Amino acid sequence: MSPPNHAQEASVTIPTFHVPDQPKWPELTSDEQVALKERIKKLLKEQSAVLVAHYYTDGVLQDLAEETGGCVADSLEMARFGTEHPAQTLVVAGVRFMGETAKILNNEKRVLMPDLKATCSLDEGCPAELFSAFCDQHPEHTVVVYANTSARVKARSDWVVTSGIALPIIRHLAEAGEKILWAPDRHLGSYVQRLTGAEMILWPGSCIVHEEFRSVALARMRRLHPDAAILVHPEAPEPVVALADVVGSTTVLIKAVSTMPNREFIVATDAGILHKMKKMAPDKTFLPAPTAGEGATCQSCAMCPWMGMNSLQNLAEVLENGTNEIFVSADLAEKARIPIRRMLDFAKKMPK
Ligand code: 13P
Ligand code: SF4
Repeated sequence: MSPPNHAQEASVTIPTFHVPDQPKWPELTSDEQVALKERIKKLLKEQSAVLVAHYYTDGVLQDLAEETGGCVADSLEMARFGTEHPAQTLVVAGVRFMGETAKILNNEKRVLMPDLKATCSLDEGCPAELFSAFCDQHPEHTVVVYANTSARVKARSDWVVTSGIALPIIRHLAEAGEKILWAPDRHLGSYVQRLTGAEMILWPGSCIVHEEFRSVALARMRRLHPDAAILVHPEAPEPVVALADVVGSTTVLIKAVSTMPNREFIVATDAGILHKMKKMAPDKTFLPAPTAGEGATCQSCAMCPWMGMNSLQNLAEVLENGTNEIFVSADLAEKARIPIRRMLDFAKKMPK
């Protein structure tokens, strides 16, 4: 029997925000690319800096992070890696909340990002004043926010979670009888609610990338590829998640391509992840899940425009000029660190 549905969507109006076009970077010849990578490697070494990249960034950045002793990871592991690595400078290739989380956890370190305007629709759709006022209306609820939020929103929360750990944390809170105010991703919130039966009020935010996947077109694709496994990130809407063989964080989806016997995979998350999947299982076939079809608008077409703001060119520039440093005031960092630490401590106690 499935757990009861205790999800209630908050009646909040999400403010409008600008979605940039996919950035267009000048093509580099292979010689130019090699030269730029060498320059970055030298700068990283000279500045005892380490590159921490997300799976949605350009493949060349992911490879560079690994080749230089940094990491390519999901948002939970990115946060953990920054705290455990001795480097004095963390260069975060991803979106702003990832750089801010790194700074909050490592106040003594310098945190740089290739582009400070690289934000996230979830972060944009959850402004701190509006969110705080909403929390004030629900004082009896435990406030759980997704990592894809600003430092101020985190500071107003009791727990921060990433997609990799949301489910066990909500289960833990539900078992303790707590009522939850969840923000900002309504789809991830409703997914964990369905699995745990927790009593939850959901902020109505969403990811513009995952919201574009189309369940009718996906079901049609499955009929054409009956042996393919469908991998879905839980930021996708419920009808898409319902078709999945595996639902999980970027790390979970990447692991699935090696552990599952299938030769073909249909992947419903940002297309940047395909780079790592192809490296993990070069003999397998990966098909991006459809973002076109009935009712489709396809603004991003499964490519996060903010993740796309990271490139070799602007990475070299920030290392050279020391620009784009992330600052979070000591007072705010202290408050935001508490719920992030709570998540990391919870993660430490989980079975591997
Ligand atoms: P992960 O934590 O699964 O890497 O997801 C981060 C994100 O922004 C997904 O859109
Ligand atoms: Fe945000 Fe979606 Fe981009 Fe992830 S893919 S950073 S959730 S807009």
